[in-house]
Amino acid sequence: MSSSFGKIFSKSFGFGKKDRSVLGVDLGSSSIKVVQLRNDRGQAILETYGEMAVGPYQDLSVGQAVNILPEKLSVLMKDLFREAGVTSNFGGLSIPLKSSLLISLSLPGVSEEELGGMISIEARKYIPVPISETIIDWWVVPKTSYEYEDAEKGKKGALADKVNVLVAVVHKDTVAQYKKLSSSLSLDNPFFEIETFSVMRSILRNEKGAILIVDLGATTTKVTIIDYGSVRVSHTINKGGQDITIALSRGLGLSFPKAEEIKRKVGLVETSSGGDMRRTINPIIEYIFSEVTKVMVKYQEKNTRSVEKVFLIGGGALLKGLFEVAKDNIYAPVFLGTPFDRTLAPEFLADMLKQTGPAFAVSIGVALRALEEE
Ligand SMILES: Nc1ncnc2c1ncn2[C@@H]1O[C@H](COP(=O)(O)OP(=O)(O)OP(=O)(O)O)[C@@H](O)[C@H]1O
Ligand SMILES: [Mg+2]
Repeated sequence: MSSSFGKIFSKSFGFGKKDRSVLGVDLGSSSIKVVQLRNDRGQAILETYGEMAVGPYQDLSVGQAVNILPEKLSVLMKDLFREAGVTSNFGGLSIPLKSSLLISLSLPGVSEEELGGMISIEARKYIPVPISETIIDWWVVPKTSYEYEDAEKGKKGALADKVNVLVAVVHKDTVAQYKKLSSSLSLDNPFFEIETFSVMRSILRNEKGAILIVDLGATTTKVTIIDYGSVRVSHTINKGGQDITIALSRGLGLSFPKAEEIKRKVGLVETSSGGDMRRTINPIIEYIFSEVTKVMVKYQEKNTRSVEKVFLIGGGALLKGLFEVAKDNIYAPVFLGTPFDRTLAPEFLADMLKQTGPAFAVSIGVALRALEEE
């Protein structure tokens, strides 16, 4: 099994030669998503996709984040694969960002070998568990123009031979659990990848400037800034779609499942009775977007570089009317992620894939890597 769990996104998008089907699985905290693709002469054909809520497998509701027991997760995934008609057993699984650590280090430009040693010493300062319990992956991040500008502003010479390194850390226990889960599903030599990297593959489109991706999940919102082809910032906001449902349930005196249902049906759309909903939901999403703005502004100021595009992904981005609020609150061009654009699918699915697309950004990214590795 591959222990490389953070492979940086490849710019070539060249697919392998084999034309067997592959799958990509997103192990989200509230729902598991799967996508099956096949390579047809360099085109990724969408064969099937599906989603299954985790809650009901552990006496909780749809939309709730769950720390699911491994045995139950295996049952859920078998159900999901069966219902979605998944036939492939080649591919990969995403590792949630919360089970990993992404660290940016600035180190002297020494040989790769020496860097390896330095990284394990430096990274130790950020890792809360013994390093022997972790698996570490790292990459030298391409030199950027601002580094040179910095160097000119005073630290002459010193920075010119510095390198930026991105370090990804995952606990060995996490990988062991993933291996166990994979063998219970009879997956053949799967890879595991931190979700941040999967998303880069399915969302980025060769942009030249800095890109910010907002992943609105169940309990958290993940903010990633990618610039010069690499992750520059990875920040987590402790609010997500589940907080909206909880607020609605309290505010309107509804059960969680009912509040979840109404949230998905009505969202922020203007209706005669919708005023209360907007009053309840707006403060939460405005808080999230103000945090996103802080991260964005900080990056822009530090690097004298502006964010070119902001992409919204995750199930939370499906909230009706959210896009308009995002546009009013984020001072950069905002787009909803359309990861299915990377695939070829029947025309009659186009609307559906556009609508649900943001929720599948991770799973599609994983499946695309599986095609590259074929
Ligand atoms: N149509 C919809 N309208 C509004 N909210 C929705 C819709 N569909 C899903 N959501 C919300 O999206 C959230 C789940 O998003 P997603 O599936 O991306 O999370 P996850 O991947 O399970 O969580 P995480 O990434 O935090 O582990 C839930 O709060 C859910 O209520
Ligand atoms: Mg998620």
